[in-house]
Amino acid sequence: MRPVASFDRPVLATERLRLRRPEMRDVAAIVRIVGQRDVAVRLSRVPHPYGAADARFFLDAVVPGEWCWAITLAGDDALIGVVGLTPGAEPGAAELGYWLSPDHWGRGFMTEAARCILSYGVETLRLTTITSGYFADNAASGRVLEKIGFVESGRAMRPCLARGHDVASVEMHLPPGTMA
Ligand SMILES: CC(C)(COP(=O)(O)OP(=O)(O)OC[C@H]1O[C@@H](n2cnc3c(N)ncnc32)[C@H](O)[C@@H]1OP(=O)(O)O)[C@@H](O)C(=O)NCCC(=O)NCCS
Repeated sequence: MRPVASFDRPVLATERLRLRRPEMRDVAAIVRIVGQRDVAVRLSRVPHPYGAADARFFLDAVVPGEWCWAITLAGDDALIGVVGLTPGAEPGAAELGYWLSPDHWGRGFMTEAARCILSYGVETLRLTTITSGYFADNAASGRVLEKIGFVESGRAMRPCLARGHDVASVEMHLPPGTMA
């Protein structure tokens, strides 16, 4: 079955989190988090410094074309991170990406959020190929992917806007038939 063609983002709930569509009211939170160099250097597409215009570009030009959710704590609307599936070139393919505010690192939140949208991607969107990747110096992200079932598929150089050069990366994929 082909994946759903629209980019609907229903509210999804996990034990501790609520995932909702990112909105313009999130600009300040996005800038506060993604503007931190510690976060930006671990991401491919984020410039540094990062300001409100960059966050508005993300909300206007990126969010509408991706299955992308704001992560909030259950019972609190404030954005603390983003998790998303970027459609790939082939039908049924997407790439998992995410970032979280450093205030909340190390509590299993990203594993919980990523697992939730992987289920959505597989069960609702009928995605058949889900890939991801992380810079080789970002072991925490590698661990998140490993915990939700990804395995290494190769090594590559990926661009990093914040560092201004390509960075050694580990390419990952979810083996066919694997459920998060
Ligand atoms: C990567 C990131 C999303 C992790 O979020 P998180 O909520 O802290 O992740 P979790 O708590 O679910 O899991 C982190 C795991 O990495 C482990 N870890 C943390 N730092 C580590 C390190 N330096 N080396 C090895 N493992 C590490 C943790 O112990 C945990 O594993 P465990 O459950 O087996 O103990 C977060 O650090 C982040 O947003 N970083 C900046 C942006 C980013 O890196 N995005 C991903 C780009 S590929």
